[in-house]
Amino acid sequence: MRAEAGPRIEFDRVVVEFPSSRGALRVVDDVSFTIADGEFVAIIGPSGCGKTTMMNIVAGFVNPTRGRVLLDGRPIAGPGPDRGVIFQEYGVFPWLTVKENIAFGLKLAANRAAPSERDAICDRYMRLMGLADFADAWPKMLSGGMRQRLALARAYAVRPQFLLMDEPFGALDAQTRTAMQDLLLQVLQTEGKTVMLITHSVEEAIYLASRIIVMSARPTRIREEIRIPFAYPRAESVHETREFNELRSHVRDLVMKEYAAQASQQLARVAD
Ligand SMILES: Nc1ncnc2c1ncn2[C@@H]1O[C@H](COP(=O)(O)OP(=O)(O)O)[C@@H](O)[C@H]1O
Ligand SMILES: [Mg+2]
Repeated sequence: MRAEAGPRIEFDRVVVEFPSSRGALRVVDDVSFTIADGEFVAIIGPSGCGKTTMMNIVAGFVNPTRGRVLLDGRPIAGPGPDRGVIFQEYGVFPWLTVKENIAFGLKLAANRAAPSERDAICDRYMRLMGLADFADAWPKMLSGGMRQRLALARAYAVRPQFLLMDEPFGALDAQTRTAMQDLLLQVLQTEGKTVMLITHSVEEAIYLASRIIVMSARPTRIREEIRIPFAYPRAESVHETREFNELRSHVRDLVMKEYAAQASQQLARVAD
């Protein structure tokens, strides 16, 4: 139950520094933004800029060095079942079968489902993800793309209020990727969630998100926030529109500039 109608996620002047051999390495530099209920925010920016670090704060794995991140107005005390996290490296348990992986979250006290309901949920997601024939397989027997689909199934199965997704479709072939994007939109349409998605794909960000935040090279700051004007539910034909193309050029230019800035920073570091 939500107490008030404020932002669901709030970054308030967040700074993150990690210790390094050359002193404190600043990764996140004074970042403030909010995500409202039901919003879908895509975060895009050069590799190594600090995106995963930002998501890890919301997931409850990293604390800001300065500033705060609030979830429904409260400081984050650690990980919780309200947040479904899909890690950049597939978060599946190698010691559990496909079906046991999906059932895992449903056995935790916070989301406990009766065995028959659990079975129905597992079957449904195995079918949706094309894993129905692999219920008793071990993750090591699956391809990278299948493991990624398993991680998605596991996160969706517990119906979390928040989805925190770190390049969740990166290891998928183009066709499966499109299918997984559409399935995500379908899940959101029926369940309504607040989403933070990290992606390298400008097209994916525009197709899925209601807002894109473009981050700078490290130490990362917000370069620009872009509202995506397309209504939900979205159809793949939106890719063909002039508006989509204009957004794509604009976001691509911003991201390319940040990659260029990062490359020149790296050269300067090598030089000194
Ligand atoms: N726990 C950590 N300790 C030290 N350095 C870290 C830690 N986590 C991330 N970093 C560094 O912070 C920077 C940003 O990492 P990350 O957030 O993973 O970037 P991105 O997800 O944008 O590629 C990188 O230089 C990385 O090496
Ligand atoms: Mg990352």
